[in-house]
Amino acid sequence: MKRLVALVAVLALVLAACGGGGTSTTEAPSGTTATTAAPSGNAGGDVTAGKTVYDQNCVSCHGADLSGGVGKALNAGSQAAGKSDDQLLKIITDGVSGTAMPGWGNSLSEDQIKDVLAYIRSQE
Ligand code: HEC
Repeated sequence: MKRLVALVAVLALVLAACGGGGTSTTEAPSGTTATTAAPSGNAGGDVTAGKTVYDQNCVSCHGADLSGGVGKALNAGSQAAGKSDDQLLKIITDGVSGTAMPGWGNSLSEDQIKDVLAYIRSQE
């Protein structure tokens, strides 16, 4: 009877070892998922999506070629081109009080604001 108990104990150890191996195999694919997710967590916006946001909300004041009109020019050589991403994100989100530039923080998502900035940058 003692021998049988010992045998069962050994079997249990072998099974535990196999189980351990199985666990490490499952860890590998989840590591792969994390690697795939990293590039999509890109800080920059999507230029194509940003053009749509621009055409729908900004073109009337800033012009189809971003050369300005009611709003300031946003193209190459403009003041905006010399400002940092953070400065422009803040202006787009909050607007410029006392001017025609509205804040978009309530009507556009953070992603849409990043996208439209990416579009503006692509035109500078
Ligand atoms: C109703 C007109 C109007 C609309 C619509 C508008 N803007 Fe403006 N925008 C302005 C005006 C006017 C200014 C200049 C404010 C000032 O005097 O500093 C401005 C300034 C800016 C600036 C800062 C430029 C600089 O050199 O400081 C950015 C960036 C900008 N707008 C982006 C956008 C984006 C992006 C949209 C669309 C989501 C948009 N604007 C929609 C009128 C508008």
